[in-house]
Amino acid sequence: MVATELDEVRAAAIAALEAAGDLTALEAARVAWLGKRGQISALMQRMGQLAAGERPAFGKAVNELKDEVSARLTARRATLEETARGARLAAERLDITLPGWPPRRGSLHPLTQTRREIEAIFQRMGFAVERGPEVESDYYNFEALNLPPDHPARDMQDTFYCGPGRVLRTHTSSVQGRVMARRAPPIQVIVPGRVYRRDSDHTHSPMFHQVEGLLVDREVSFGDLKGVLQGFTNQIFGASLPLRFRPSYFPFTEPSAEMDVECVVCGGRGCRVCGHTGWLEILGCGMVDPNVFTLAGYDPQAVSGFAFGMGIERIAMLRHAIPDLRLFFENDVRFLEQF
Ligand code: DAH
Repeated sequence: MVATELDEVRAAAIAALEAAGDLTALEAARVAWLGKRGQISALMQRMGQLAAGERPAFGKAVNELKDEVSARLTARRATLEETARGARLAAERLDITLPGWPPRRGSLHPLTQTRREIEAIFQRMGFAVERGPEVESDYYNFEALNLPPDHPARDMQDTFYCGPGRVLRTHTSSVQGRVMARRAPPIQVIVPGRVYRRDSDHTHSPMFHQVEGLLVDREVSFGDLKGVLQGFTNQIFGASLPLRFRPSYFPFTEPSAEMDVECVVCGGRGCRVCGHTGWLEILGCGMVDPNVFTLAGYDPQAVSGFAFGMGIERIAMLRHAIPDLRLFFENDVRFLEQF
């Protein structure tokens, strides 16, 4: 009688475990059958009602029953865990064969592109690229360029002063003296970089970019300067444009000139861009002033050279027909991504 009853409990417990469809239901079944107040514990409590002789056999049978149901529980749990894991993996499945989202690529700023092209053109003509500090000494920005402290031509440039004897460089010409202080001739460098002036309107920005050129050797002539600049303009504007040199004044060159190219917009006929002159002013240049050589410790009798300086914004505007300087500095991607 007792044996049949245990068989029935076993069958019912096993059925309950098998019926549990997930881990929560299985836990409920465990509590119901194997828990402290579960049905199998309840069988144990009935021991007291049995005759003393029957107890050992009954206890052993109930313990075996408990072990068997426990083993079944463990097996069932393993099965359900495996099922749950499979379901989770299926839900998280990624289809790595779907096409991806290509990252949006940026583009180089038009000023960077123009600067790099200017550098490449001069490098092909044998110039090395040099750089110098933007926070500069008064000495290299002015004095070394034949501009002593009381020189009236200092007013040509509205300077940002940033401490005693310190300025934000007003031109890349400041690097001329630095290069000559470091090195003996021959020298053949260009210096691209940022420069700063107290000036701000639709044609002036307080920060803009220049490229300086300096060539020092023996018996350098103005003809050499013209040859280099013609080679440069041919390449940067992609056509052999007529050049015009107008006498001018810079403290660090003598003689000095401003160089114009035939207007790239109207071909010299005259238009709004060239102010109806047919010419565009591109750069300042000249033969290095003997005083600049003397200040650099060079013998002006032994060496000669030329220098030039141009604005990168101006060249970029002419090449790409950009109407307003401020477009370069607003960082509007709709403008920038056209280049
Ligand atoms: N530094 C001049 C400027 O910022 C440009 C310049 C003119 C540079 C003549 C030169 C030069 O090297 O020879 O306006």
